[in-house]
Amino acid sequence: MPNRIHVAFVAVMLATAAFGIAQTGPVIKEVPVRPTSPASGKLMYANYCAVCHGVDGKGNGPAAAALKDQPTNLVLLARDNGGKFPDTHVYSVLQFGMETPAHGSKDMPVWGPAFRSLDKGTPSPDMQEHQRIANLTSYLKSIQEQ
Ligand code: HEC
Repeated sequence: MPNRIHVAFVAVMLATAAFGIAQTGPVIKEVPVRPTSPASGKLMYANYCAVCHGVDGKGNGPAAAALKDQPTNLVLLARDNGGKFPDTHVYSVLQFGMETPAHGSKDMPVWGPAFRSLDKGTPSPDMQEHQRIANLTSYLKSIQEQ
């Protein structure tokens, strides 16, 4: 039974032509979710999210060019929600994924199952999943701009 889940695009390969003249865009490669400590939202962000949302959260990670939908600028979530950081919404997007409109794409991965598979075998994978999502949510809250 597979115990790894291939959902995260944590690696981006930049394919460069031999003579450095023509450059192809980034190619997205799915890799297994790399284990990290659930205790650090910042570290998880760097490992799982920065590739699309950018190191600074502004939506300009190296994989962005290869996606159909542009990754959301995550430092403006509070500003775009009338000045209040949308904790519950963010938590739910991370756990269950985006609500996808009929013709939309699903470029934003669903993290709940990936985190649960990562912590399988620990005494309480559900608690670990909650801790990961809660710490990621607090980290995003901490990087908000007005
Ligand atoms: C493969 C690229 C990719 C990765 C990796 C990724 N995201 Fe996203 N994310 C997106 C895209 C694209 C959207 C916009 C989707 C849309 O508008 O339909 C998005 C949307 C979001 C939103 C929703 C914002 C809103 O408008 O409601 C949040 C929150 C978010 N991402 C957080 C994260 C976090 C935290 C991580 C890491 C655990 C992460 N994302 C990893 C591509 C990615």
